[in-house]
Amino acid sequence: MSKTSVGPTNDFCPQTLFLYGTFDDQGRANFGLFCWFSYLWDSQLGVMACIGGSKQTRDNIHRRNVFSANLVTEALLPLADFLGNTPGHGGAKRNLKLETEEGRVLPVPVLKASPVAYELEVKQFIPMDDGEVMLCRIRNVLQDEGLAREDISDPEKMNAIAPVHTTCRRYFSWSGKDLGAWGEVMSGFSTPAGI
Ligand SMILES: Cc1cc2nc3c(=O)[nH]c(=O)nc-3n(C[C@H](O)[C@H](O)[C@H](O)COP(=O)(O)O)c2cc1C
Repeated sequence: MSKTSVGPTNDFCPQTLFLYGTFDDQGRANFGLFCWFSYLWDSQLGVMACIGGSKQTRDNIHRRNVFSANLVTEALLPLADFLGNTPGHGGAKRNLKLETEEGRVLPVPVLKASPVAYELEVKQFIPMDDGEVMLCRIRNVLQDEGLAREDISDPEKMNAIAPVHTTCRRYFSWSGKDLGAWGEVMSGFSTPAGI
């Protein structure tokens, strides 16, 4: 089949979604939704992540050089879509009551409802025009205990935790079912009064 040239886009190239958890200057937990996340190798497995433009998450990471990356599942998707379409600057996310715990190794907020969470320390910031790449050391990985069970296969575990993919500004289930457009799915999340 012949090909058409298009501009810079990652349409039709699915990405995994993470909620990055950070503390602000008052020690309040903040979460934002991110997909420009992949892996690197430097003596051990590491993470590379890109944040574009001005974000609360970016400010918070610069303050302490640490953040958590919490895998987004179908159960978390309405909340994740809200967090990805609501800037932290301005305080609109401040009154959210999310079930969190602190990382075991780093001072980062971790979402209890996410089955896999990385505790990440930024080793190198690479500033660009208005974006920034962060090369990170994985200081710890927190996985739900059920993921260590040997009587359940990895495919069964993946179906059970149901991670979400994104491309073409839409969300897709692990099995490829359409879960809705960015900014649409958050209607299934009820925010506390006053937000
Ligand atoms: C599906 C999705 C993926 C996103 N991925 C990224 C990303 O990888 N990098 C980025 O800079 N912003 C990304 N965003 C935008 C941020 O989530 C958004 O700007 C959010 O409001 C940031 O929250 P904060 O201000 O609390 O940091 C994404 C948004 C959506 C809906």
